[in-house]
Amino acid sequence: MKSDKNKGKVIYWLQPKELLNFVYVHSRSFVSDFSKQMSAKDRENQIYREHIYIEKDELLEILKTTNKHTEFSPSGIGVELGSGCAAISVELTNLYPEVEKIFAIEIVPEIVKYAAVPLIYMNMVEEKVKPVVGNFDDMKLENESVDFIIEFDSLHHSFNLDKTIRESARILKPGARLLAIDRSHWSTSRKRRDELENTVYSEEFLIARGLHKTTHLTRAENGEHEYLLSEYLDAFKKAGFSRTDWIFLIDPKFSVIKQSLISAVPSRIRKNTKYYYIQTWPLRKLIFPIIMMRMFNLIKVGRYINFPRDIKSKRFQAKTVIIATK
Ligand SMILES: C[S@@+](CC[C@H](N)C(=O)[O-])C[C@H]1O[C@@H](n2cnc3c(N)ncnc32)[C@H](O)[C@@H]1O
Repeated sequence: MKSDKNKGKVIYWLQPKELLNFVYVHSRSFVSDFSKQMSAKDRENQIYREHIYIEKDELLEILKTTNKHTEFSPSGIGVELGSGCAAISVELTNLYPEVEKIFAIEIVPEIVKYAAVPLIYMNMVEEKVKPVVGNFDDMKLENESVDFIIEFDSLHHSFNLDKTIRESARILKPGARLLAIDRSHWSTSRKRRDELENTVYSEEFLIARGLHKTTHLTRAENGEHEYLLSEYLDAFKKAGFSRTDWIFLIDPKFSVIKQSLISAVPSRIRKNTKYYYIQTWPLRKLIFPIIMMRMFNLIKVGRYINFPRDIKSKRFQAKTVIIATK
């Protein structure tokens, strides 16, 4: 890694050379080099496409909606776990001027260098958003020194949920909160989750990420773990969080009901179809809120939040949001 241009811009809790032998880090380190000429807007769009797969407006909508329904109003010193391109930190800082500083912690040095640093500087939030190459299981921050933690699609990358959440609890001040916007399973069997986690990536996938086509890499080895909602909630409880609550963002389309029905078909029958990877949605839990939302245009039904998405959006159809108070 050429480091001169990044000198002073990144905090290294881990040196890139310490990470060279981590298969996990290497499998995720293939990012575009943006050194070629490109307008700032194009570059920003490209970073979003490559790292969060959604548009900036959609991210803002997600942050505003989750914050509204969880009353998560960050201020002071914060941490973003597994920050990737740091878009969440950047936008949180823009939305909440009360945020003084946020450490955007990412384990893949190339992502920090080629995505987080450019995004932070192009948004001129470098005084507040501090990109860190580090491990969210071992954060170089004092006990009880942090006012809030946020994560977006990163906690499921943890190889040890208890450890990651315990480490978060350690650095949070008493009464401070952690907001997790992630994916979760509700009732998918361990067998099915193993099946998903043990799926080996195709040659095409490996080559597109700069890996040799003979590399044996499973989804779990690449950080794609299939945790149950109850596993997240248990981990928060075990780590000493005093209160944990959750909501579920859902686009109440009938296609969700269709997916739910398809997910009840055994996965071996769906094996070579586009429905192999769909989430196991428990129909009995979804049908009532979806019908209520559609019939009465309700914004909220219990824990379910009506969260429509554009037809062209690559965004999830549903997302779990956990708010935990230490
Ligand atoms: C799916 S990405 C989400 C990135 C970002 N939150 C976003 O939404 O764009 C998960 C990120 O977590 C990072 N990550 C995984 N394990 C980590 C760890 N132990 N410490 C820090 N970052 C980690 C990955 O490298 C990856 O960039």
